[in-house]
Amino acid sequence: MTQDQAALEWYRVADLGDLPEGRVRTVTARDQAFALTHFEGEYAAFDNRCPHQGGPLGEGSIEKGWLRCPWHGYDYHPTTGEPPSGFSDCAIKVEVEVRDDGIYVGLEPAPAHLATTSDLMVETMVNWGVRHVFGMVGHSNLGFAEAMRRAEADGKLRYIGIRHEGAAAFAASAYAKLTGDPAAVFTIAGPGATNLVTGLWDAQMDRAPVLALTGQVAAQVMGPGDFQEIDLASAFEAVSAWSATVMHDSRHAELMNLALKHAHLDRGVGHLILPNEVQTLPVPEGAEAGTPDGRLPDFEIAPSPASVSRACALINEARRPAIVVGHGARFRMTEVLELAERLNAPVLTTFKGKGQIHDDHPLAAGILGRSGTPVASWMMNEADLLIVFGASFSTHTGIAEYQPTIQVDYDPMTLGKFHSVTEPVLGEIGVTARLLLAGLAEDGEWEDQRGTVAERWALWRNEKARREEDDRGEGVSGASLFAALTRQTPDDAVIAVDVGNNTYSFGRYFECSGQSVLMSGYLGSIGFGLPAAMGAWAAAPERKVIAVCGDGGLGQYLAEVTTAVKYEMDIAIVVLNNRELGKISKEQQAEQFAVWQTSLHNPNFAEYAELCGALGIRVEERSELDAALERAIAHRGPSLVEVISDPQLI
Ligand code: FES
Repeated sequence: MTQDQAALEWYRVADLGDLPEGRVRTVTARDQAFALTHFEGEYAAFDNRCPHQGGPLGEGSIEKGWLRCPWHGYDYHPTTGEPPSGFSDCAIKVEVEVRDDGIYVGLEPAPAHLATTSDLMVETMVNWGVRHVFGMVGHSNLGFAEAMRRAEADGKLRYIGIRHEGAAAFAASAYAKLTGDPAAVFTIAGPGATNLVTGLWDAQMDRAPVLALTGQVAAQVMGPGDFQEIDLASAFEAVSAWSATVMHDSRHAELMNLALKHAHLDRGVGHLILPNEVQTLPVPEGAEAGTPDGRLPDFEIAPSPASVSRACALINEARRPAIVVGHGARFRMTEVLELAERLNAPVLTTFKGKGQIHDDHPLAAGILGRSGTPVASWMMNEADLLIVFGASFSTHTGIAEYQPTIQVDYDPMTLGKFHSVTEPVLGEIGVTARLLLAGLAEDGEWEDQRGTVAERWALWRNEKARREEDDRGEGVSGASLFAALTRQTPDDAVIAVDVGNNTYSFGRYFECSGQSVLMSGYLGSIGFGLPAAMGAWAAAPERKVIAVCGDGGLGQYLAEVTTAVKYEMDIAIVVLNNRELGKISKEQQAEQFAVWQTSLHNPNFAEYAELCGALGIRVEERSELDAALERAIAHRGPSLVEVISDPQLI
C-alpha cells in the first residue's frame, strides 16, 4: 500500500467471487454509490454518476469491452474510465483493493458538511417547533430529505415515512387538531404533491395549521413540462393560506418563517415549493436560520368592554341559559366550565367538540345535531339563552337560530356567519369566558338545571340499553359496540373517527370520560380515521390512540397498517365491517333511490392485520366485544378489532 493509499478510508463493498468476469454492479461505501466492474481479471470502481447526466453506471453493462451507461449509451473503459477516442468525459475512478476477505474501495476522508439552503430551512422549521414530518422521499426532494435526515440524527425531529401522501396530510391535520401546532408533510413533485390535496383541504377547512413541503423539478426546466412537473403554485393556491416557490436568490429562512407564520395565524396550510437543485445550494454568506421570536402576537385578546357588558346583561336576564362549545373552545374548557358551574347551565357540544366535557359531568348534555343525543337537543330547546363558544353553526350541528344567542369567537368572520346572532363577541375564548364570569350579577337567578340534565340522561341511557339488546343474528349493533368501547377505553385516550354510519353511531352511543376526539369536520372525508390516528400517535405517544373506522374508510388507507407496524405505533383500530357503504345506502333510501353500488367485498381485516405484523381479532358476537377490545387496547403496538356489524343496527 502506498503512502497515498494509506491516507484513504477503506470500505469493504463486495465478497470475492460476488462479481463475475465481464459484469458491473452498484456497491455502496459511506452512503455513496459506486459502479464496481470486473473486466479481464481486474476490478475497478467509479463514481456511480455518469459524467453525462448522472445516469447510474452500476446499472449499466459491459459490452464489447466498454462500460455502457444505461441512460443514453455513453461508453467508458471498464477499468480506466476513459471514453472512446473523440470523446472527453471520463468516469470518475476511485481506488480499489482486492484483499483476502473481499473487495475494498478507498475514499478520501469525507469533507466537512457544507450547509445547504435545505439545512437552513429545516433549522428554521425546527426553531418554530415543527417536530414531526409525514411524507415520502423521492426523485425531486432528496436534497431537502438529506437535511431532515441530518436533523433527525441530531434528535431535532422525527420523520415518518407513509405509504400514500394522502395519509400524510390527514396525519398532519389530526396532529394540529389535537395540539394546535403544525406538523409538516413532505412529497415529491407531481403525483406525490397532488396526493396531498384532500388531507390539506381537511386541515384548511377545520382551521388546522400544517406546513406542506413539496419537491419540484429543477428551476431551469420549470415551465415547458418536465417529468413529474405540474404547476404546483396553481395546484395549491386554493388549498393553502400561503404558498411560495423557493428560488436560488430567495431569502430561504424567511420563506420558511412566512410559511409557518401563515400556518399559525391563518390556521391553515403554509406551503413551500422546493425546486430540485435549490435544495442543495450552499447557504449564502451570512444567512441565518429563522425563529418565531417577535413574529407571533399574544392571542389572549379581550373583547371590548361594551360587548362584554351587553353579553352580561343578556346572561343576567336569563333563567335557563345553555352553553354550546365547539372544537374552537377545546383548549379553554377550564374557563368555560367555571362559567357553566356559576350559571348552573348545561354544556352541549358540537360533534367536533365531543369529549371536551366528560359525559358524566353533572352539567354535560352530550352532543347536538345529526350524531347527537336527545339530551342535548332537549336542553337546547328548553334554554332561554345560548352562549356559544368556538362553534361555527354548521347545518350538521343545528344550533337553534330561534334562540337568543351570544356567540364568542376569535375570528370576526365566524361571528354571525350564517345568520345574525343577538350578541357577537370578538375575543379569545378563555379570556372572554373569564370576563363574562366577572360581569355576572351577584344575585343572578339562574335555575339549577342539573336535575333536568340527569333526568334526560336517565331516559336516553334506558333507550341505549334497550338498543344494546337488539340482535337480528346478522352482526353486532352500534349501540352494543360503543357501550363496550366506552367501558374499555382509557380516560386519556385519543379517538380518531372516520366518516360514515360508524361515526354517527360513535357520536350517539360512546360516552367520553376525558378522551380527545378527532374527526374530519367540514370536509367530512372518508378515510380520515387511520391516518389521523397516526398523527395523534406522533403528537401524543404516551396516550393510547384508537381509530374508529368503517370498512369503506379503512379500505382507503389499509396499507397504512404496515406503517403503524413499522413505527410500532400504539394504535388500536376498531373497524365496523358491515360489508357496505352503509351511510350511502341510507341516503339512497332516504331520497327514494334504489340502493346501488354500495356493497363492499372486504378482506378478513383481522387476518390482514396479522399478515402486516399487527394483532388482529375478529368479533362476530356481542358477547365477545369486551374481551376483544380489552386485549387490543392493552396490546402495546398496533392492533385491529374487526367487528362484524349489522348495517341495520348502526
Ligand atoms: Fe449516462 Fe447520459 S447519463 S449516457
